[in-house]
Formats: sequence, C-alpha cells, structure tokens
Amino acid sequence: MKKVSLTGIKPTGILHIGNYFGAIKPALNLAREYDARYFIADYHALNTMKNGAELSKTIREVAAGWLAAGLDPDRVIFYRQSAIPETFELATMLMAFTPKGLMNRAHAYKAAVQENSEKGNDADAGVNMGLFTYPVLMAADILLFDSDVVPVGKDQTQHIEMAADIAEAVNFTYKSEILRIPRAAVEERVAVVPGLDGRKMSKSYGNVIPLFAPEKELRKLIMRIDTNSQGIDEPKDPETSQIFQLYRLFARDGEETALAKRYREGGMGWGEAKEALFAVVNRELAPIREQFAALLSAPEKIDRILADGAEKARPIARATVSRFRRAAGIDF
Ligand code: ADP
Ligand code: TRP
Repeated sequence: MKKVSLTGIKPTGILHIGNYFGAIKPALNLAREYDARYFIADYHALNTMKNGAELSKTIREVAAGWLAAGLDPDRVIFYRQSAIPETFELATMLMAFTPKGLMNRAHAYKAAVQENSEKGNDADAGVNMGLFTYPVLMAADILLFDSDVVPVGKDQTQHIEMAADIAEAVNFTYKSEILRIPRAAVEERVAVVPGLDGRKMSKSYGNVIPLFAPEKELRKLIMRIDTNSQGIDEPKDPETSQIFQLYRLFARDGEETALAKRYREGGMGWGEAKEALFAVVNRELAPIREQFAALLSAPEKIDRILADGAEKARPIARATVSRFRRAAGIDF
C-alpha cells in the first residue's frame, strides 16, 4: 500500500511565500509518490476569525492558492475540514486519551499565557478552548486519514509529535494498531523562510510577501526589505542576508552560486541585490498569480472541487472512526 501524506492550512489570511515554500511546495512534491490528502483547516481558523464574510473569503482564497500552485484534484484528495464530521467525532474520542498537561505544554498556548503574564493579565485571558485544545483537533485531522508523513514548516512539528503521542496512547490501551503513527516532514532548506525584517515570515509579524501580490506591490515590498549599511563596493555575506536567503528559494540551475559570488566580490549594492530578487520571484509567481485570479473569478468551481474531495475523503474517515468505536466498546 502507498504511504499517505497529509497536511492542512488554516484560512486565517492571505497565503505568503513562507506558506508556499514551507508547506505547499513540499506537499505537492510528496503528492507525486504518496497518496496525498490536503485540506483547508477552517474550524481551526474559527478560533481567531469571528467575521463570517472574511472567513468565507479566505477559505476560497486558500483553496484557490493550492490549486494555482499546482494541486491536481484528480491526484490529491482536497477538501475542507468542516466537510468531514468524523473529524469532530474522532477529536472527542482523542480528548479522553490526551493528558491536560500535554496541552499546557503546547507552544501556542504557552505563548498566550506568557504574553498575559508580561502584561499582568490573568494567565488565561483571551484564551478560548479552541486554542487550548487546538492540538487535539489537529491530531484528529491527521490520525483520521492514516497519515504517514505531514509536510509542514518547523513551527508545526510539536503538534505532530503530540498527535503521535496521542495515537500511541490509544494503540497501547487497546493493544492494537487502531491509529497510524505520523511523523513530520520538514524540509530543512525551507524550514524557516525569513520575512522582510529577517524574522520568520508570518502573518502575525506583518512581514510577509503575499504569494499573489500584484507585480507593483511585489516590487515595493522587496525594495522595503531591511538591509545593513554596507556600501556598494563592500563584499557582502550571502549567508546572513535575508535578500539572498529568499533569492536562493527561487533560483534555478547555477543562479544561486553565480549571485553568491557577486555578493562576496563586492561591487553590488543592496538595490541591485533586491532587483535580482524581484526578477526571480516574479518569474515564478506571475503564472501562479494569473491562475489564482482566474480561479477566484469562478468560485463555484472551487466549491465543486472541495465537495468532490470531501466525498472521496469520508469513507476513509468513517473506517477509522468505526475501528476506534469498535475497540472502545461503543459499537458492538
Ligand atoms: P503564519 O505563521 O503566517 O500564520 P501559518 O501558521 O498559517 O502561517 O502556516 C501554514 C503553514 O505554512 C504551516 O505548515 C507552517 O509551518 C508553514 N509556514 C508558515 N510560515 C512559514 C515560514 N516563514 N517558513 C516556513 N514555513 C512556514
Ligand atoms: N496547525 C496548522 C497551521 O497552523 C494547520 C493544520 C491544521 C494542520 N490541521 C493540520 C497542518 C493537520 C497539518 C496537519 O499551519
């Protein structure tokens, strides 16, 4: 049997090139040799997005983003989390096997608690149960579909380790392999794509290059990337420049080495380095941008693709849930 690759993206905003290199591209590469199941984690987005119109819009945009980037719905089961009710049934069952202490250690929850303590607020101020139990719902997404590998950026690996821990607790309890143990697939080269300010590119830092920015905006953003004060003639270290780190992601045969040499020789200013970056970014993103616009102008097509995907996904989900229910003594 072929191995399974699964991943999801929360529709909490516009896709950026960190998502593209950290999650979408590696996932599409894996889809060539694995059975792939990719989805839009819309219930995960509900934790932070309470504006319905905005959420509907980002669900379609993230779906169009996947398709524009090359997802082939005939080869990948592509669906919305919300269309698979078994996810929520499994999440409830997994709750019974998840120590509360494990959730206390989750990075996102810990970060919220720490921020509250720095501000002198109650530890749990602004924390809803969706945030606290986030890793359980994510474990359900993963375990429901017999996932072997989960392509994600580095920030998500803790969640996948938690899913594996919870699955092991279930299998140990019933002395049988009810749930398959997943592992994260993190591509080291793209584990942390830097943003405009050199920190990890993230919506929450406001330092992103959107995947579908119009050409003019794209150039403006690239020209805004922070640099040091080295002059044109000074040799520059490509390894410490986020302009070069980004360039490397888009470069093709030989381009990376050639540009690194120019950095080291001196004689190339930051303005020119940014122009070189803009050229390779635009070369890769222009066709994807066009495809994205075309898809969004026919949203019913996107909805159809997602509905067809859900139909293919549900029998797999049902099989997992019934296996678990039988072992647990709920079905007899
Ligand atoms: P954001 O941090 O902007 O909110 P998400 O948390 O929605 O992004 O991330 C969706 C997917 O993209 C995850 O698999 C995540 O690991 C990956 N990802 C996000 N930002 C980056 C980045 N800067 N570098 C590598 N991968 C990333
Ligand atoms: N938590 C992931 C993120 O923030 C999104 C996600 C939800 C996911 N369920 C998943 C990723 C299952 C991989 C597998 O990016």
